[in-house]
Amino acid sequence: MNLPSWWQLEVTAPFKLGPRELPGRIWTASGCFAYGLHAHDFRAADGTSPYLGVGAVVTKTVTPLPRTGNAMPRLVETACGALNSIGLENVGFEDFLANVLPELEARGVPTVVSLAATTPEDFGPLVRRLHEHASGFAHWHGVELNLSCPNVAEGGHDFGSAPATVARCVAAARAWLPDRALLAKITPNVADIAQLALAARDAGADAVSAINTVVGLDVDLRTGQPYLPRRFGGYSGQAILPIALAKVDQIVRGVGVPVVGVGGIAEPEDALKFFALGAVAVQVGTAQMRDPFAAARIARDLARR
Ligand SMILES: Cc1cc2nc3c(=O)[nH]c(=O)nc-3n(C[C@H](O)[C@H](O)[C@H](O)COP(=O)(O)O)c2cc1C
Repeated sequence: MNLPSWWQLEVTAPFKLGPRELPGRIWTASGCFAYGLHAHDFRAADGTSPYLGVGAVVTKTVTPLPRTGNAMPRLVETACGALNSIGLENVGFEDFLANVLPELEARGVPTVVSLAATTPEDFGPLVRRLHEHASGFAHWHGVELNLSCPNVAEGGHDFGSAPATVARCVAAARAWLPDRALLAKITPNVADIAQLALAARDAGADAVSAINTVVGLDVDLRTGQPYLPRRFGGYSGQAILPIALAKVDQIVRGVGVPVVGVGGIAEPEDALKFFALGAVAVQVGTAQMRDPFAAARIARDLARR
């Protein structure tokens, strides 16, 4: 693509985020690139890797205990996106710590660890243990608190929709994370997302990630019932780009909190729009499931050199 004249950022150069330098500004989003391990053998036609130029892989959210997730079906493709109700299927924190994170470190994958918990205070022990275990890791750059998963019964999207709850989660994690970036991933399913961002920043987050999925529903006309057994799911993909851009704008212009933009990015132009609004980095989600090279391609296309 022809890069616009206002474009100045070097997306594949290190940049400071809180106490840490991250290797680049184009990341993969949580839940859309698994734990960042499965694509190591993939090669594009020109021989390049899906990790080339990617500033961070945000790993699939892990919870204190393993989860099997929600009943199938739990992913429905729609005309311009996807509706999911995965329900945070994951291997659990201890397995992740013992087997996944060391492998990411050994492979040199720049990693941001996504965590979820049932109560705000649960985040403290998780982050403490992560820090004790991995403080010597060179490629572990930060933690993203998933405060916005709409698909989990005991949390639901209400979990992170109150600024006071966001603040408690962030404060509990920050206390044990002195030297890594701390991000709070916040929900768009509220009236005023800027207030969540403000609460996160004031409690010690270095940035917020915005947005997680938008609550949606689709009906299977063969049965007259919603496709998803839980009726609602999280809507993602290209259709939500304007929603994500609006939410990012509300945060940046409204309260000036640093934002990592996510939602609907499939092409370099989409990422540019987030940067134009002031995002410090971006994440590629649903597009990465269709094309594991999407983030690497966007990073390459936005490189000014
Ligand atoms: C199948 C699927 C699973 C996801 N799992 C997670 C997750 O575990 N944790 C999380 O914070 N976000 C999760 N997300 C949300 C994405 O990270 C992202 O915020 C959202 O999909 C919007 O970006 P996109 O339109 O680029 O996909 C998931 C999204 C999809 C489609």
